[in-house]
Amino acid sequence: NKGKHRHFMEKEIYEQPEAIGHVLAHYVGLIENNADPIPSFDFASIPSLAISACGTAYLAGLIGKYWFERYARLPVEIDVASEFRYREIPLSPQSAALFISQSGETADTLASLRYCKKLGLKIGAIVNAAESSIAREADAVFPILAGPEIGVASTKAFTCQLAVLAVLAISAARHRGTVTENEVQALVRSLAEMPRIMGQVLNSIQPKVELLARELSKYHDVLYLGRGTSFPLAMEGALKLKEISYIHAEGYAAGELKHGPIALIDKNMPVIVIAPFDRIFNKTVSNMEEVAARGGRVILVTDEKGATASKLDTMHTIVLPAVDEIIAPMIFSLPIQLLAYHTAVFMGTDVDQPRNLAKSVTVE
Ligand code: M6R
Repeated sequence: NKGKHRHFMEKEIYEQPEAIGHVLAHYVGLIENNADPIPSFDFASIPSLAISACGTAYLAGLIGKYWFERYARLPVEIDVASEFRYREIPLSPQSAALFISQSGETADTLASLRYCKKLGLKIGAIVNAAESSIAREADAVFPILAGPEIGVASTKAFTCQLAVLAVLAISAARHRGTVTENEVQALVRSLAEMPRIMGQVLNSIQPKVELLARELSKYHDVLYLGRGTSFPLAMEGALKLKEISYIHAEGYAAGELKHGPIALIDKNMPVIVIAPFDRIFNKTVSNMEEVAARGGRVILVTDEKGATASKLDTMHTIVLPAVDEIIAPMIFSLPIQLLAYHTAVFMGTDVDQPRNLAKSVTVE
């Protein structure tokens, strides 16, 4: 039942404040009460963590890597499951591995889980479908509590996967003694703000995003740029746009621009720059200036502080509330998802069932 929405994808985008609320109610209470949300994972003693997943779930894992490494000082080995399982990665049996999957049935992700299990690693599953193969074969299951996701393009599962990864990273940091108790409490307070801020963003950005989507639907190629956790988000934006609107899109680390993609810049390829006002904002702005100097059209997705700090004349600027760094990827996902959605609606594609795609990929 789509309710008042035209598509399941739209409904699922708008369900995110509530879905994230469920994640927080389940996990954050555990952190606050000093209980361990990860009893079978001894994060304090593992030398490293492996993460494997496909598509959007992989991109959530990549953002998780930034958090585990930054907050918990835990090295993370991550790859798409189809590469992970064949790469012969030297993994220590003392390590743990996390597998992320909405459906819990993705063939390559399940195969990489079995591969790690054979090597003796502790297995954790971050899944939406609690009754799935991946959940059944794991030592510990971390449900993302997103509720059914029908649209082939993953939206609420992505932000709920991120929320669970953030909680696990904070919990790991606490166990490893790499953050103070005050820092833990500050991070938890930021997480708790998410449902309210997400609701506020969803209520305010639609007219602007629709305007932009109408324009975007006229182009054949789009480049997404981001740094830090906005880099995987840039790849997620490109994936979302291509899978439902069929417009060719690429996500790049902003710093890689001059190592190749800058040759493509002209007025026919809009460049979407995802840049919250964080400690690397200025670096991203200088990449944006390089694009503008070559006649490229910049669409800036930033926050209030970033919009004030950047003097660049953009084609469009989407301004979000300024938020703490840990929740920025979830908040910035919203305009990225809505932009892909409205562009696809303008193009007249089958948004919930894009051509050639299946919701669950059970063959390798
Ligand atoms: O069910 P899973 O999370 O394991 O699925 C992984 C990918 O197939 C999935 O995220 C895919 O990339 C989505 N269609 C992206 O929107």
